[in-house]
Amino acid sequence: MPSRTTAAITAVGTYLPPDRLTNADLEAMVDTNDEWIQSRTGIKERRILRDESKATAFMSTEAARACLEKAGVGASDVDCVIVATTTPDTVFPATACRVQDAIGATKAWGFDLSAACSGFLFALTTGAKLVESGMHQRVLVIGADTMSRIIDYTDRTSCILFGDGAGAVLLEPTTDGTGVLDVVHYSDGSGGEALQMPGGGSLMPPTHGSIDARAHYLQQDGRSVFKKAVTGMADAAAEIMERNELGADDVRYLVPHQANLRIIDATARRMGLSSDKVMVNIERYGNTTAGTLPLCLSDWESELRPGDNLVLAAFGGGFTWGATWLKWSYDGSTVAEKTLAELSA
Ligand code: COA
Repeated sequence: MPSRTTAAITAVGTYLPPDRLTNADLEAMVDTNDEWIQSRTGIKERRILRDESKATAFMSTEAARACLEKAGVGASDVDCVIVATTTPDTVFPATACRVQDAIGATKAWGFDLSAACSGFLFALTTGAKLVESGMHQRVLVIGADTMSRIIDYTDRTSCILFGDGAGAVLLEPTTDGTGVLDVVHYSDGSGGEALQMPGGGSLMPPTHGSIDARAHYLQQDGRSVFKKAVTGMADAAAEIMERNELGADDVRYLVPHQANLRIIDATARRMGLSSDKVMVNIERYGNTTAGTLPLCLSDWESELRPGDNLVLAAFGGGFTWGATWLKWSYDGSTVAEKTLAELSA
């Protein structure tokens, strides 16, 4: 009997802006310190896109180009571009349309997907369904955010957390049993106000008043987001393991959204995973919102082998959260630009 068609990740590409914002830099901007930031979050530095003429579409385009080059696939062979982002270049046109044009994906359609820090997870599912259904052969799924453009650098409770970055994956059909195998996804709009940017949409268009009220910046009740994120990510990861009868020994890596090291540790504990099975790069990049999961996949690419079971898990504004069981499809050691050891050095 032929196996079912699933969507395999066949390449990963990323873009990280060169400028770094360290904890020492933040100490000079707000009343904080390196020890507090590291012990509460695990973050040491983040990347910031300083060039104001560039934004999320630029980073997405660079990541998409790198991804297609590694796959050996031409942009004109891409069928669809999905950009998960909370910081689109403009409300419209969609960032995906800018990327489609910039890379020369002349036959592709595309759209943006808004699910905050769960954006990449939800976009991966959406892209996978386009491939599984037989509708498309090549879908680019991008997670990208220029968080520095919506962060209030006078608010010490949030400005220490976020950074900028982008990652792209190419999805192609396979029948070899690898790829996106199962997902659990959730939303709970009742938690919306705990993590939001109140201004800039149709409810509160920009006015002098909204600017004076700092309504065009991210606002967060960190403590309540933390509580909900710990249970949401851990429950979703446990659920996907249970219903697919995956034990801790079956899982090669947890690929967690990088919001806070303590949330990641709690999720790993719930799954029964030792720390060597958990992708963590929050110390280098902070929370890049939709960028975190593909940035992890890229950093660990050299370690990944066909058949490795990965559990991706995320939690974000909305609230939105979920987990995905992904069986890895290719030998990352043959294509990764850098080894994990080089990246961590
Ligand atoms: N530097 C120093 N002190 C700070 C600080 C900073 N950057 N930010 C807050 N504090 C202070 C607070 O004012 C508070 O002081 P008080 O006790 O005198 O009132 C104290 O530190 C503890 O604050 P609290 O908010 O309880 O800290 P916390 O342990 O919850 O950590 C976060 C704060 C934001 C790191 C944490 O709540 C968190 O990570 N939340 C989730 C954020 C998140 O994941 N967002 C994205 C969702 S995907």
